Amino acid sequence: MSSPSSAARVAAPDTLTLTRPDDWHLHVRDGAALASVLPHTARQFARAIVMPNLRPPVTTTAQALAYRERILAARPAAGEPGADFQPLMTLYLTDNTPAEEIAHAKAAGIVALKLYPAGATTNSDAGVTDIRRTYATLEAMQREGVLLLVHGEVTDPAVDLFDREAVFIEQVMQPLRRDFPELKVVFEHITTREAAQYVAGAGPHTAATITAHHLLYNRNAIFQGGLRPHCYCLPVLKREQHRQALLAAVASGSDRFFLGTDSAPHAAVMKEASVCGAGCFTAPAALELYAEAFESVGALDKLDAFASAHGPAFYGLPRNTGTVTLRREPWALPESLPFAEDAAIKPLRGGEILPWRLVD
Ligand code: DOR
Ligand code: ZN
Repeated sequence: MSSPSSAARVAAPDTLTLTRPDDWHLHVRDGAALASVLPHTARQFARAIVMPNLRPPVTTTAQALAYRERILAARPAAGEPGADFQPLMTLYLTDNTPAEEIAHAKAAGIVALKLYPAGATTNSDAGVTDIRRTYATLEAMQREGVLLLVHGEVTDPAVDLFDREAVFIEQVMQPLRRDFPELKVVFEHITTREAAQYVAGAGPHTAATITAHHLLYNRNAIFQGGLRPHCYCLPVLKREQHRQALLAAVASGSDRFFLGTDSAPHAAVMKEASVCGAGCFTAPAALELYAEAFESVGALDKLDAFASAHGPAFYGLPRNTGTVTLRREPWALPESLPFAEDAAIKPLRGGEILPWRLVD
C-alpha cells in the first residue's frame, strides 16, 4: 500500500480564526449607496482605507472629515456587529494639491493620498496628468509620513490595456522610488507578475494590496460563455501566469503584500449596460473569497498575517484585537442585493455556492 501524501495526512481545517482583519483598499461611495454597502464591510473588517474617488473627488482635509462623518453615520447600530468599524481616510491627489495641505491632513488623521493617473479609471478625470507636478506635495508627504497609494497604470492609449501596469513600473514607479526613497508607497491592486516581482524587490518602503478577484480569476472569466460585466474591473484581470504569480506572492508570506479588496460597487443596471463601469463588488463575502484563494494553493496558514498583520505594520498602526471565524460551510451568496434607492447590486460570485462562511 502506498503511503499517504503529506497533504492527505495534514487534515484541512474546518474553521479558521483570524485576528480581526482590515481592508486596505475600499470604495464605499456616498449617500444612499454608502448606506447600503457599508454594513457589508463593517461586518467583516475593523478598519478600511476609504478611496476618495467620489464625484467631486475628496481633495481637501475638510472634505475628508465631512465624508468620514457620513461613513460613521452609515455604520450598523450600536450593539450590532460592525458598529465600531473605523474608516481610514485618504485624499485624492491632483496636480494642484498644495504641499501645505499635507501637515494639516496628517494632523487631522488622514493617512494617505491616492494617485490616480488622469483618466485611468472611474472618477479619475481630476487625477494627476504628470507626476512631476506633484513633487512638492510628495516631498511634504515623505517628510510627514503620509503614504502614497498608487493606481499603477499608464493612460497612454497607445499602450495595450493589458500592458499598462507593467509599463507603469518603468515609466512612473522606478523614477518615483529613486526620487522619494523614504516615501511609503502602496502599489494598489497589483495584477501582474511584473508588479509582484517589483514589489518583492523594491525595499521596505514599498508594498502592494492584492484583491480576492485577481487571486481567483484570470481574464478568461470576462468572456466565459459571453461577456461578463461583473468580472470587469480595473486594472483588468490578466492571464493565468499572472494570477499564479499573485498567488505565489501571498503564499510566500512576504509582509510586503496585504489585503485590499478594491470592492467597487456599481448598480447592476450600470454594469449590465452598453458601457459598463469598472469594478467588482466583493464586500459581502470578501474574507470567504480570500480563504478560497489561499486554500487553492495550500496557504491558509498565511491568511491571518495577510489580512491582519502586514497592513497595520506597513501603515504604522496597531493591530486589531479580537478575532473573526470562518467555517467550512457551503452557502449560497445572494445573486442580488439592495443598493441605493430601489436599485440592485450583484456581488461577485452572487448566486453561487461558496465553500467558506464568516460566522457572525
Ligand atoms: O475596478 C475599479 N473600480 N477600479 C478602479 O480603479 C476604480 C473602481 C471604482 O471606483 O469603481
Ligand atoms: Zn480602487
